[in-house]
Amino acid sequence: MELKKITEGVWWAGAADWDRRLFDALVPLPDGTSYNAYLVKGTGKTALIDTVDPTKTAVLMNHLEKVESLDYIISQHAEQDHSGAIPEVLRKYPDAIVITNSKGKEFLSDLLNVDGDRVRTVAEGEKLSLGGKTLEFISTPWVHWPETFSTFLREDRILFSCDLFGSHLATTSVFVEDEWKAIEAAKRYYAEVMMPFRTTIRKHIEKFEQFPVETIAPSHGPVYRNSEKIVMAHRDWVSERVSNTVLLPYATMHGSTELMVDYLTESLASKGIGVQRFNLATTDTGKLVMSLVDAASIVIGSPTVLTGAHPSVISAAFLVNALRPKLKFASIIGSMGWGGKMVEQITATIANLKVDLIAPVVVKGRPKEDDYAALEKLAGEIAIRHRTNNIV
Ligand code: FEO
Repeated sequence: MELKKITEGVWWAGAADWDRRLFDALVPLPDGTSYNAYLVKGTGKTALIDTVDPTKTAVLMNHLEKVESLDYIISQHAEQDHSGAIPEVLRKYPDAIVITNSKGKEFLSDLLNVDGDRVRTVAEGEKLSLGGKTLEFISTPWVHWPETFSTFLREDRILFSCDLFGSHLATTSVFVEDEWKAIEAAKRYYAEVMMPFRTTIRKHIEKFEQFPVETIAPSHGPVYRNSEKIVMAHRDWVSERVSNTVLLPYATMHGSTELMVDYLTESLASKGIGVQRFNLATTDTGKLVMSLVDAASIVIGSPTVLTGAHPSVISAAFLVNALRPKLKFASIIGSMGWGGKMVEQITATIANLKVDLIAPVVVKGRPKEDDYAALEKLAGEIAIRHRTNNIV
């Protein structure tokens, strides 16, 4: 199989995974993904930056078939979708060593039993010369594991950014072809993986400004020949800006909660607020989490089932809580037959969100005139909060 050239002496040697539909047994991948490994050949030494998911080891080994010698495997991130083929590459090249940091060394031993004698650790700012190609290691922890680092190839101005700036997108071209599609996929990836670390990412982006980056080569999805737009998009996602939008994730069993969601949708829209609804029985979780990147408010809707919230609502609320989005305001709406602890359960599940919790609206049976009045009041309170916080 042909290696795909990025520039003179640099090739993509990864694997596309067209059919993968789920990551971490959780995250939907509508467009598959790729595991990007990069081969960098200097006048004296050759390095492989990351490997591939263990399921695609054969693809990587095929790429390396005509590569006679390999000196270094740069392991930027020990998660198995990038490190999984390291043992096989070490077997093929008995003189090759793994370059990583001390945390990475520990993880590679824990996860893949990589022999410590074949690992050399590097620290922030260290350089590795391959002969006419200099790799500089930049510490970028918590995107999204603590050991992660990035690598800058100074002569070619390429930043190998690991998971950061990545996207789950399988393509035939190494480079971005449809920028809109790539950034949309990158937003989904950011939302699902990186959102809890936005403060850290902000600092990493500032750090990257010290380097004259032209090309960004992430570990998933296409390579950006021009780094400007993908960096700008991330700057916005990690900023404090929120949009004048309310998210309405909900479940409904006999239609009462849905009637409430219908009313609230219309009422909020009439006040000039954007609404995004997610019926949790059918929604793509990826779309829900993408909308969390900049929404100002969330109203969670649930019927009462077995004395508590609907399990799909608890699952969604748990995910929202774990992703720690920028949300400023939250409320809960829903229905019950005779009682229960639906509101208490949802409130406890979103306890980590730094939101102003607006009084919930719970109806008995189907919503009636007074209930619609309460929903109108809720919509009005959200509108006032958005206005007074200049969320427009
Ligand atoms: Fe793509 Fe964190 O691994």
